[in-house]
Amino acid sequence: MKVTISRRAHFNAAHRLYRKDWSIEKNDEVFGLCNNPNFHGHNYELIASVTGEIDQETGYVLDVKILKDIIKAEVEDVFDHKNLNLDVPDFKDLNPTAENIVVIIYNRIKAKLDSKFELEVILYETPRNFVTYSGK
Ligand code: NI
Repeated sequence: MKVTISRRAHFNAAHRLYRKDWSIEKNDEVFGLCNNPNFHGHNYELIASVTGEIDQETGYVLDVKILKDIIKAEVEDVFDHKNLNLDVPDFKDLNPTAENIVVIIYNRIKAKLDSKFELEVILYETPRNFVTYSGK
């Protein structure tokens, strides 16, 4: 019997979508306003969901405090109030699209979880636009 526990978290961050190896014109064509050289910000929301068997002793799949602490250390402390392009080494050579951000977040949380758990991360870049990654 597997159950999924979820934790919601939040961070504010700035980014710019562009490729260094493309011209300004090509970047504007593909990324539009997201290629603003002076960056722009988002209020990112994420939901991290961990699936596993209920531990018969504790009744927990995973103490949600553990998940909360992992998200704080691996996501909030690293991304919150940062410029993703300039301040976060994960994006030094990686365009910080929502797709790439959700994969980085997934990998960071997954590395701290026991391998017996399945993980899914949903990342909202705006209230209406969101991406999902579960390691597939
Ligand atoms: Ni953006």
